[in-house]
Amino acid sequence: MNVELINRPRRLRGNAVLRKMVRETRMDKSSLVYPIFVMEGENKKEEIPSMMGQYRYSVDRMEEKLIELRDAGVSSVMLFGIPGAKDEVGSGAYAQDGIVQRAFRKAKEVCPEMYMIGDVCMCEYTSHGHCGVLCGQEVDNDKTLELLAKTALSQVQAGADMVAPSDMMDGRVRAIRRILDENGYTNTPIMSYAVKFASSFYGPFRDAADSAPAFGDRKSYQMDFHNRRESLKEAALDVEEGADIVMVKPAMAYGDLIREVKDMTNVPVASYSVSGEYSMVKTTAKAGFVDETSIMCEMAVSAYRAGTDIYITYFAKELAKCMDEGRIG
Ligand code: PBG
Repeated sequence: MNVELINRPRRLRGNAVLRKMVRETRMDKSSLVYPIFVMEGENKKEEIPSMMGQYRYSVDRMEEKLIELRDAGVSSVMLFGIPGAKDEVGSGAYAQDGIVQRAFRKAKEVCPEMYMIGDVCMCEYTSHGHCGVLCGQEVDNDKTLELLAKTALSQVQAGADMVAPSDMMDGRVRAIRRILDENGYTNTPIMSYAVKFASSFYGPFRDAADSAPAFGDRKSYQMDFHNRRESLKEAALDVEEGADIVMVKPAMAYGDLIREVKDMTNVPVASYSVSGEYSMVKTTAKAGFVDETSIMCEMAVSAYRAGTDIYITYFAKELAKCMDEGRIG
């Protein structure tokens, strides 16, 4: 048929070199962050039942994972501690010799070139599993701020290069900035989980960290996923309070908000591809319904395309390999 077509989008898709030349989304391994779970005990590496292929490491076994990541070109990790004992006020979160503090010290010793981020929250450390201290059945915002600030400081003193508060209390970025500055850590950045939703995608993580709330849910502090404009409010508030980087979490179902936060702020934007996203890919691939590597790559690219600068993912090592091979990036 003889049609007169001026614009033929297919012209730019005809050849692999050309497709890559005109690619709009570019990624780099330096933007990947891998979350690691550290636990009490010695010589332990336990697979997390809800997260196939992910492990909890005792402090003495964490080294092998750090080296593996470093060799794959992943240069940042985020540490989560799973304490041996929990209490009402989550005192393990800010103990000088708490699990995560010991892990930071050890990690700095065995792999000093790795950039270490501390997740700052109470839920892994409280007996009731909520992200702060309780007053009756409610999480007390202002009392929790003091404990979060202490937690952040103890992590930085133990060697954390950056702290990432994930609790969703109001004012925590300001409280953490203040305590870090007062103690001379004026150059330690804060990456706030600014836009964090009350999401069922965290299910496998709560199993991994044994941090499910004993009663109720997190809806009085984490965001309602029906809301878009509130994301902008949360992000703006955190930037005002001194957040250096803001995060949107989860990533996969929230690409619209990654984009909006990216467009409306002038700080780097992180997104966290959470445990439920990971486990959905693993289990569906295991059943043979999708190709794991392809799906993983497509999800990652969608997060970057939406505006992600820093991508926190359990697939960090595998994505680094795909970037090396030129499959994505
Ligand atoms: C701690 C925290 C959670 C996650 C990161 N930090 C759990 C939660 O808020 O319930 C979730 C990470 C994941 O699902 O991979 N508050």
